[in-house]
Parts: sequence; structure tokens; C-alpha cells
Amino acid sequence: MQTLKHMQDELIFWYEKNGRKELPWRNLGGEFCDERLRNINRAYGVYISEIMLQQTLVKVVCEKYYFPFLEKFPTLESLALAQEDELLKAWQGLGYYTRARNLKKAAQTCLREFGGVLPKTIQDLQKLSGVGAYTAGAIACFGYDEKVSFVDGNIRRVLSRLFALKNPKPKELEFQAQRFLNHSDAYTHNQALIDLGALLCLPKNPKCSLCPLREFCQARLTPHFYPQSKKLEYEHLNLNLIFLQNQNKFALKKSQEKLYYGLYNFIFFEDEECKDLKFLGEFKHSYTKYKIRVKIYHKNISIQDAVCEFKTYEFKTLEELKNLALSSLSLKALKFLV
Ligand code: ADE
Ligand code: SF4
Repeated sequence: MQTLKHMQDELIFWYEKNGRKELPWRNLGGEFCDERLRNINRAYGVYISEIMLQQTLVKVVCEKYYFPFLEKFPTLESLALAQEDELLKAWQGLGYYTRARNLKKAAQTCLREFGGVLPKTIQDLQKLSGVGAYTAGAIACFGYDEKVSFVDGNIRRVLSRLFALKNPKPKELEFQAQRFLNHSDAYTHNQALIDLGALLCLPKNPKCSLCPLREFCQARLTPHFYPQSKKLEYEHLNLNLIFLQNQNKFALKKSQEKLYYGLYNFIFFEDEECKDLKFLGEFKHSYTKYKIRVKIYHKNISIQDAVCEFKTYEFKTLEELKNLALSSLSLKALKFLV
């Protein structure tokens, strides 16, 4: 079977079993529609859910806001006629009050220009206040079963990982979403992508072993690299680097840490261990997300120490060091020695 089709099928199969199919806005007008939402127009109910979900967790929207809001404002008309203070009251706690004001403006636009209903096309939907590319796509697809793709935060993360995109521009993501779109069931496909991002393809510690797309995913071994976070957040580190010397040899260790994995480093000591050592100087060093201040010390040790207390280290002459893969940090430190 063609790979793309195979991926789409796996995704839908996973959703049927594991997706959040019971979410109230996913059952509007259907067999499992919540009684309280029986009379809610599907596109309208989807619209309200998508605006609420822009900055608020699913759980909070479900438990505290969705039902009371739709009870108070069950139609576009009621929303268009809403008193501002009543509207803000129903929105209280959701934050981002521009969203509530935009709801009213958008509802008025629908009454004035679109015959009292939410328009169907992405183009028209984007004419509504507060409705951007993502929300327009979601309303068209989830409200009207239009075969369209769109990209929200969850979908962005999933696509970036599936196709190994480090720093994708919105256009690139939209292109990939369109290419991946399942035209035989766009509704389920898009809900499934959202759920994959929300349930498995998490920002931290994604659950790749449970993922239906793992065998196709170009990031399954290194999901944390995709997408690269927008701002590089620096982490400050203080390190004490020690030239532990036995005769003409220096102690080194092959790094097993996230920092410098596989490279050789001189030895690092805790602050207390450096008290009586000879201080040689210090320098600053940047490495990936780390801003490091390195203090350099020197300590002579006996051959006895070298084979007992420090026996886990490898001892090398300066000549031998030339053939080792030293970390950039240790290379810099060497200048303090010669
Ligand atoms: N977040 C944004 N849209 C959503 C949807 N349709 N279901 C669940 N979470 C969402
Ligand atoms: Fe995300 Fe992991 Fe699945 Fe790739 S394999 S889509 S990184 S959860």
C-alpha cells in the first residue's frame, strides 16, 4: 500500500479506538449529541468551541464554559444582540476578552452579510473578526465537513516531527497538512491529528511507542529536535574544570552526559572539592542552550591516586590528547595549561 494512504489509515484506526470522540463539540447534531446542545447549530457550536479552545484547556472549556455559554447565547442572533457586559460575564475567567468582543462583531457580520449563518468557505470565514486561518479551517471542516486542512499548535508539532521540519514556516506546514489530508474522511483525519498532538505527540516526552505513525515518523528517535522552540532559552551553568595531573599525564573522561556525549573532557569537580586546589583562571563558554562559566583548577596526584581514587579516568599526555576528540570546552581550557 502506498505510504501516505497507510499513514492515514493508521491514524484513523488509532482515533477510532483512542480519540476523544465524546467531546461535546464533536457530536453536535449527531446520535450522541448532548441533550443540552440538541438545538445548537453545528457550525455555530464548533465556532464557539474553537474560539474558547484557542487559549483554554479542553477540560476547563468542557467543565465550566461551553454549556453555560451556549445556553445563554444559543444562536448567532442572540450573540449579535448580546449586551457587552452580559457577554463578558459569560466569558469571565476565560481571559483574552477581545475574543468575546470579536464573537459579537463576527455574529453581526454573519447576520449582515452571510444570511444569518456562518459562511462555509475559508475565504469568507476569515472575514470574521477573530477568525484566522486555523479557526476558519476548523469551522469549515468540523462544522460543514469541508475537505480542508489547517494547522494549529498540536498539528504543527505532529507535522514538524513526522516530516522532520526544524523551523517550518506557516506556508510549509500548510503545504504538508494539505498533502497529508485524507480526502475520504477529512473530519476524522483532522480531529485525529489534534488528538495525536494532545495525547501522544506531547511537547515534552512524547509517547512514541504508542504512536500509530511511529514507523513513518522521521523524528521518532529525536522528537525533541522538532520543531525547534522559537526562542533559544539559555540555561546557565557553572563548572569547575580540573587538570588532574599524574606526572606528565592528565585525567580525562569520555562524556556520558547530555552535554558533550561521546567527547572527551577534563574532569569536573563540585565547588567544595576545589577549595584547596590551585586556581588557574576562568572563561565563558556557550554550547547549544548552555551558557557556561568555567573555572579552571590544577591538582597533582600520585600514581597511587591515579590507580585508586581516580581509576575510572583515562590518563593521557598532551601529545596523546592531540588524537582525541576533545569537547570544545576542554580544548579552550587547554590554553590555560600551556
Ligand atoms: N483544540 C482546538 N480544536 C480542538 C478540537 N476540535 N478538539 C479538541 N481540542 C481542540
Ligand atoms: Fe510524534 Fe513520536 Fe508519533 Fe513521531 S512517533 S508523530 S514524534 S508521537
